[in-house]
Amino acid sequence: MLDSYKRNIDYLRISITEDCNFRCKYCNPNGELNYSKKSISKDEIIEIVKLFSELGVKKVRLTGGEPLLRSDLIEIIRDIKKIKNIEEITMTTNGLLLNKNLLELKNAGLNRVNLSLDTFNKSKFKEITGVDGLDKVLEVIGELELLEMVPIKINCVLINKFNNDEIKNFINFTRDKKVQIRFIELMSMGDNIEWGKEKYLSAEEVLEKHKDLKLYKEENVAKIYKLPNSKGEVGFISPNSNKFCSSCNRIRITSEGKLKLCLHSDIEYDLLKILKSKNPLTELKNIMLTKPKEHKLGEEKYIKKNMVKIGG
Ligand code: 5AD
Ligand code: SF4
Repeated sequence: MLDSYKRNIDYLRISITEDCNFRCKYCNPNGELNYSKKSISKDEIIEIVKLFSELGVKKVRLTGGEPLLRSDLIEIIRDIKKIKNIEEITMTTNGLLLNKNLLELKNAGLNRVNLSLDTFNKSKFKEITGVDGLDKVLEVIGELELLEMVPIKINCVLINKFNNDEIKNFINFTRDKKVQIRFIELMSMGDNIEWGKEKYLSAEEVLEKHKDLKLYKEENVAKIYKLPNSKGEVGFISPNSNKFCSSCNRIRITSEGKLKLCLHSDIEYDLLKILKSKNPLTELKNIMLTKPKEHKLGEEKYIKKNMVKIGG
C-alpha cells in the first residue's frame, strides 16, 4: 500500500528470534544473553504475513538474531510460500549453521540469503563476532553459488580501524563471483554508541578511494556499483551520509510481534493485539499511515534497542 508519503510499502522484515550464536560488537555490544523471551509462534507469523499480503506486501525477509536457531524455520518458510501474492522469501543470517540444511531451505521456498561478513581475517572475525567461524561462512558462499541462490548478498559493516584496510579485498571478491557486497554505514543505536566512537567510515570516503567502481543501478535503499567486467556488484547502504528515507519500502516486525514502521524510531505497535481486534485490516491500514517521513540520525537521535532485537 502507499503510505502518507506515497512510498509503496511492499517489503516486510520479520525477526523470528532474538537469540544469536554470534555477538557482533555493533549489534549486541554487551553480549547480552537475555533471550528467555517468547518469540512469535509460527501460526502468528503466518497470520501476520497473510494480513500484510492483503495490504500489498510481496517480499518477506526473515531475520533475527539468527533465524537458523529457530527449529521450525523450514515450516515457517514453507507456509509463507503458500501465501498468495508473496513473490520472494529471503533471510539474513550469519551463515554459521547454513550448510546443514541449505537444500532443504531452498526446497521449502527460500529464494536467497544475505550473509554478514565484515572481514576475511580469521582472528578479526573472532574479534568482531566472538566466534571462530570464518572458514564455515566462506564455505557457505561456495555452496550458495552451487545451488544458484544468487546473487549472494554479503553485508559488510564499514568499521574504521577494523576493516578499512580490507575494503579492496571485498571489492575484488566481486570480480569473478555472483556476489553483491553491501557496505553498510555503521548505525548508532542501543548500547553501541561508546563502542562505535571513531569507528564510523562513510560510503563517500570508500568511493573516493575506489574510483574504479562505476554506478550501475539504484535499488530501494542501496546504490549499486560495479568494477568493469566483474561478475558481482558492490552496493552501498548509507543511512547516515545519504538519507534514503524517501524511497524506504519496508516495515519490520520484532520477534515479540511488535510492528516497527521505522528502524530508527522507538515506536512499536502490538500486532498480536491487532490480530485479535474486530477489523485487523482497517486498523493496520491506519497504523501504516503513521510511518514517519524520515529518521533523525543527523540530530543524534538514536533508538534504545540493539540491532540484535530488530534484525537490521
Ligand atoms: N550498523 C550497521 N549495520 C548493522 N548490522 C547490524 N547492526 C548494525 C549497525 N549497528 C547489519 C549486519 C547484519 C544486518 C542484519 O545488519 O551487517 O548483517
Ligand atoms: Fe547475530 Fe547478526 Fe547481530 Fe551478529 S549481526 S550478533 S550474527 S544478529
